[in-house]
Amino acid sequence: MPDRYAVIGHPIEHSRSPDIHRLFAEQCEQSMTYTRLPAPPDAFEAVAGAFFAGGGRGLNVTLPFKQAAAAFADRLTERAARAGAVNTLATTDQGLVGDNTDGAGLVADLTGHLGVAVADQHILILGAGGAVRGVVPSLLAAGAARITIANRSPDKAETIATACRSMGQVTACALDAAPQDADLVINAISAGLSGTMPALDASLLSQAVAAYDMIYADQATPFMHWAEQAGVAQVRDGFGMLVEQAAESFQLWRGLRPETGPVIAALRPGTRAHA
Ligand code: ATR
Repeated sequence: MPDRYAVIGHPIEHSRSPDIHRLFAEQCEQSMTYTRLPAPPDAFEAVAGAFFAGGGRGLNVTLPFKQAAAAFADRLTERAARAGAVNTLATTDQGLVGDNTDGAGLVADLTGHLGVAVADQHILILGAGGAVRGVVPSLLAAGAARITIANRSPDKAETIATACRSMGQVTACALDAAPQDADLVINAISAGLSGTMPALDASLLSQAVAAYDMIYADQATPFMHWAEQAGVAQVRDGFGMLVEQAAESFQLWRGLRPETGPVIAALRPGTRAHA
């Protein structure tokens, strides 16, 4: 019997993770299945519990269950504990381990695929939701000189900055007071998904060599349009981050590191090369 893995979330129908892990499994010659596991918003523990009781080996966890998964795990990796959120659950001899591979996925995409430096850079992050809490520690660990978190509700930005300050220089501010000297601007405002962005001053991008949207879609997002119009040299969506965080999960489960470049090329939205 192949080992069983799945991605749990609500909604989950549009998740690309099964396609990504199928290509990883083929590439690394692993006998495994990877499916979508739907769960009603109030039933994470029941559905995940039944999956593992039935012999499941690992889960990826997406919205809205990342915090519930942190509480569900027997043990957390340091980066998951810092994020307060889990996107990967793995069965081990020491019980169920919860990890968070989102930040590592972002850094790997920026530095590995896009050639965008993180070390010694000033990074401006727009938004202060759960996704930001997961990635700030990884950006600091990768050598970011300074991170500014700008959010509509500055108190939420300040909470994340305070939690991460022991790791490096992190400041918080209101969205309309964001600095204009960032080398890299990362969007984590979830409103971008529905096609609307708050009106932001293009001067925020005046020094930026790259602009990165943590979400991805079939077409360029409103943030990407905004950055392109402002003349930023490198403008990208978060599809590479999705594949890279999946590769980190796969490595945790299978002990093997798949090559991500061909998988990104095959599955990127808008390409027709679906395997
Ligand atoms: P995620 O887990 O994807 O980060 P989230 O936790 O719901 O999502 O966070 C959403 C982020 O988008 C928050 O930073 C939110 O700002 P507030 O903290 O002020 O709510 C931001 N956001 C959502 N809609 C927005 C809008 N119309 N204008 C500005 N910021 C917005």
